[in-house]
Amino acid sequence: MYVLKTCAACTMVLGLLFVTVFVLSDAAAMKRQAYFNRTAYLPCHPTKAQNMSLSELVVFWQDQKKSVLYEHYFGREKLDNVNAKYLNRTSFDGENWTLGLHNVQIKDMGLYDCFIQKKTPKGSVILQQTYTELSVVANFSEPKMEVQYKDRNSGINLTCSSKQGFPKPTKMYVWIINSTNSTNEYSDEMLISQDNVTELFTVSINFSIPFPDDVWSVTAVCVLETESMRTSSTPQDIVLPRSESNQDERKSWIAAVVTGLLIFALVLVYLRNRYKRKQERPGIS
Ligand SMILES: *[C@@H]1O[C@H](CO)[C@@H](O)[C@H](O)[C@H]1NC(C)=O
Ligand SMILES: *[C@@H]1O[C@H](CO)[C@@H](O)[C@H](O)[C@H]1NC(C)=O
Ligand SMILES: *[C@@H]1O[C@H](CO)[C@@H](O)[C@H](O)[C@H]1NC(C)=O
Ligand SMILES: *[C@@H]1O[C@H](CO)[C@@H](O)[C@H](O)[C@H]1NC(C)=O
Ligand SMILES: *[C@@H]1O[C@H](CO)[C@@H](O)[C@H](O)[C@H]1NC(C)=O
Ligand SMILES: *[C@@H]1O[C@H](CO)[C@@H](O)[C@H](O)[C@H]1NC(C)=O
Ligand SMILES: *[C@@H]1O[C@H](CO)[C@@H](O)[C@H](O)[C@H]1NC(C)=O
Repeated sequence: MYVLKTCAACTMVLGLLFVTVFVLSDAAAMKRQAYFNRTAYLPCHPTKAQNMSLSELVVFWQDQKKSVLYEHYFGREKLDNVNAKYLNRTSFDGENWTLGLHNVQIKDMGLYDCFIQKKTPKGSVILQQTYTELSVVANFSEPKMEVQYKDRNSGINLTCSSKQGFPKPTKMYVWIINSTNSTNEYSDEMLISQDNVTELFTVSINFSIPFPDDVWSVTAVCVLETESMRTSSTPQDIVLPRSESNQDERKSWIAAVVTGLLIFALVLVYLRNRYKRKQERPGIS
């Protein structure tokens, strides 16, 4: 014992052990996920207080800043220690000892502790402590796509956006599918903004692409990817105006006629030359 007290290295070892224990208990936190604006469930399974009644115990939940969410004090709800921001936001289930936290916000993410205490003649003893790590997610709205185009030369302007999701999305892109089902993926840097009250994200992309050659219509689909899911917009058909396609038909018809006339002219010239040659050298034949 004396050796330990005077040995700096050993103090370090003890410190490391302490850190290790701390990290281990942290790693043992149960992970729970809740949807934004819904209810999160923070468990407190009474493993060590199995056959004890709530009326013999004090059960309470704390956030990582030690603010109390809820307290069940010897069989009764006790509000004295509950932090004002959690008042009217919780409901305790006496069957499975689970606390529901309603109207979950992004700022509610973090670590929660549930304590089960027992009063003894020597004071209160903590029978059990349960850690929960709460994460909050919000589904992005279905991506909405806006498409602008006039004719083949104007190209296609595409805007796609999706609202009120969390966490940040990983990727947003547009698929351009032509009539032979060949698909091209187009993307650009995502513009991400965050609501300063709800902390939810809105994302959009915005870019122009040339109209694909040799086709008159394509289908566009906008896709949003997050770490856990993928959503896409309703497919939208992009069809060049009929007048232009008529114009193009006319163009190819004119081209065909011109080519025909050219060939005809060439043949005429050739024939004439041959005839001339024949007349210039009649003696040969
Ligand atoms: C939260 O949910 C309530 C109904 O459950 C709804 O009226 C409200 O608009 C939602 N709030 C947000 C920010 O989504
Ligand atoms: C629970 O009850 C069982 C018997 O039913 C007993 O053996 C056990 O010690 C009790 N556990 C506690 C924590 O009181
Ligand atoms: C706890 O039990 C209640 C019913 O008593 C149930 O509605 C609730 O979903 C349960 N919670 C969990 C997290 O199992
Ligand atoms: C979020 O999206 C997932 C996957 O599409 C779905 O199962 C879940 O019900 C959605 N949740 C909410 C709150 O909309
Ligand atoms: C596409 O956007 C550019 C500028 O961003 C604009 O000059 C052009 O007219 C737009 N094209 C169409 C077809 O709307
Ligand atoms: C393109 O794909 C769709 C569905 O994936 C299919 O119904 C259609 O027959 C395909 N068309 C061609 C030309 O391959
Ligand atoms: C949120 O941002 C807007 C400007 O973008 C500002 O006017 C407003 O005061 C901000 N609200 C809060 C709660 O910070």
